[in-house]
Amino acid sequence: MALDIEEARDVTGTRSGAKREPFSENGRRGLLRFLTCGSVDDGKSTLIGRLLFEQKLVLDDQMSALARDSRKYRPDEEIDYSLLVDGLEAEREQGITIDVAYRYFATPKRSFMVADTPGHEQYTRNMVTGASNAELAVLLVDASKGLTAQTCRHAHVVSLLGIRHVVLAVNKIDLVGFDENVFEQIRAAFDTLAKPLDFKSLTTIPISARHGDNVSVRSERTAWYAGPSLLEFLETVEVDHETPGAAFRMPVQMVSRPHANFRGYCGTIASGRVRRGDEVTVAPSFRSSRIERILRGSEELDEAVNGDAVTVTLSNEIDVSRGDVLGAPRNPPQIGSQFTAHLIWMGEEHLLPGRAYIIKLATRTVGASVTEIKHRIDVETLAHTAARTLEMNEIGLCNIAVSQPIVFDLYAENRTTGAFILIDRMSNATVAAGMILHGLNRSDTVRPQALSVSKQDRIRLKGHSPALIWFTGLSGAGKSTIANALEARLNGMGVHTLLLDGDNVRGRLNKDLGFTDVDRVENIRRVGEVARLMLEGGLVVLCAFISPFAAERRLVREMVQEGEFIEVHVDAPLETCIARDPKGLYRRALAGEIRNFTGIDQVYEPPASPELVLHSASGSAGELAERVVAELRRRRIIGA
Ligand code: ADX
Repeated sequence: MALDIEEARDVTGTRSGAKREPFSENGRRGLLRFLTCGSVDDGKSTLIGRLLFEQKLVLDDQMSALARDSRKYRPDEEIDYSLLVDGLEAEREQGITIDVAYRYFATPKRSFMVADTPGHEQYTRNMVTGASNAELAVLLVDASKGLTAQTCRHAHVVSLLGIRHVVLAVNKIDLVGFDENVFEQIRAAFDTLAKPLDFKSLTTIPISARHGDNVSVRSERTAWYAGPSLLEFLETVEVDHETPGAAFRMPVQMVSRPHANFRGYCGTIASGRVRRGDEVTVAPSFRSSRIERILRGSEELDEAVNGDAVTVTLSNEIDVSRGDVLGAPRNPPQIGSQFTAHLIWMGEEHLLPGRAYIIKLATRTVGASVTEIKHRIDVETLAHTAARTLEMNEIGLCNIAVSQPIVFDLYAENRTTGAFILIDRMSNATVAAGMILHGLNRSDTVRPQALSVSKQDRIRLKGHSPALIWFTGLSGAGKSTIANALEARLNGMGVHTLLLDGDNVRGRLNKDLGFTDVDRVENIRRVGEVARLMLEGGLVVLCAFISPFAAERRLVREMVQEGEFIEVHVDAPLETCIARDPKGLYRRALAGEIRNFTGIDQVYEPPASPELVLHSASGSAGELAERVVAELRRRRIIGA
């Protein structure tokens, strides 16, 4: 899958690679992309270091630097191959690997690209990054320790990511005296563990990364082992570079119009192949056309395949834009706005169902939210448990809704157009990686009903414009009091209003919600939807909610028409609210009797640029309400 989460680093340097030109080979000619995973002490970096070393991919200057480093960091040991791959100073000093490093190496038989991913439990996210495009995973276990919970976690994540070939490298076999029984026990236990994971091939090899047994060449010290060395196996293993018979897909990255006579669509072929003259379907419009030309740079091609970055032209002028997907007409992608997907949560902050995130799927970026967590998967036991959120590195099966229908495939069928990432709208950080399990066809069966009376028709009867006046602030700041005074004043002026107040709404519509951040997100989302309906009715809607999170206030702002949302920050210092304590709730929160109380043990994110700020100490409720009236007049929502 194409997750551009973070840049790949090539730590050992590409100079040595250039000598054997592994880069000149592409996926069609035997490049094997694999990923290594294991716990911190399992010897993963040592293994990769040795693989590189034994292929003579380490230049002399790197070798002398290595010997120097080995003395500096691990003074008692001989040359430590892991230093070759643990690129960052910080990692070296801590003795762990904390990022993904991609390295290329080649033997006369095959080229390899290996993603070295960290073994620490919290680094599942790096594993996901490293797994992009990998066809095989090498899982390391320490023979002297046996299988760990970590091994199970890795096996499961590898399976979820669609990697169908697994090698279990039973490392440090020297530490158990090259004992066949120990090896057999681990192999049997792993076979049982991996059975439900449905791998196509599972190979177990006893190795010593440190001493080189069965790494490149078979070791005499494991005479009982009849199989290949790890490298021999990697050189010969047959893997599918993509799902066999995968249909053609090319997500359009860019429309190229250098002059009036040329219109080309640029992108990387995500799966399948395409020839000149082939019929293609453009999703989501499902118009069809034929491929006229295929260009790679200035080179004209007859055919292009998975992984090729090309520009194609079509035989007729149909509307194609960035984010559209060219696909095989007999096997087109799906289009929809809801689907079920496995999510690997990577955010520092936990998942908030209902929050508006951004989804990036192939070349398309739209709004998205998690509408339901169906279950969380315990990656150590594979058990499914109920969950209201996902924490960093947790995996869950979720329903996702996107703001506009998008084109997608199932991950099992296409690791590019079936995968996506979720991005936090405030921080722009990648918070999740997702793999689509199936589409939800709700948008097919539920169609909006056209109504004869429009919002404009309703507004005309009211004699004023609709607006949503959103009061936000700490509990006790005065939101309800001011909103109440304002509604009375507007009512007196003949304005059609409706006031939604936190405590009231929570007693009925939202009586199932509490005060965790997850529930507050849902509280505001629902209130936003209700307010939006009332705006359709032409009302001036007043909402008084703490609404502590900027993201959900922004969500509501974006739900309604431009200019309709008037954010009013009722600002009072926390100390003032505590001193007022109209409901005695602060006292109880401070005494620890109420949890998750805004301002005490939960955050309040003040608005950065609200339409209005009312300092509640600066006037009576009536005076402050009058300032809102003035603002409504200024915006011509109500007449003078
Ligand atoms: S919001 O954060 O989800 O917007 P809302 O405005 O609906 O909150 O409800 C806030 C009201 O619930 C407060 O005025 C207070 O009366 C009551 N309340 C009860 N528990 C809490 C709590 N833990 N934090 C804040 N308000 C609480």
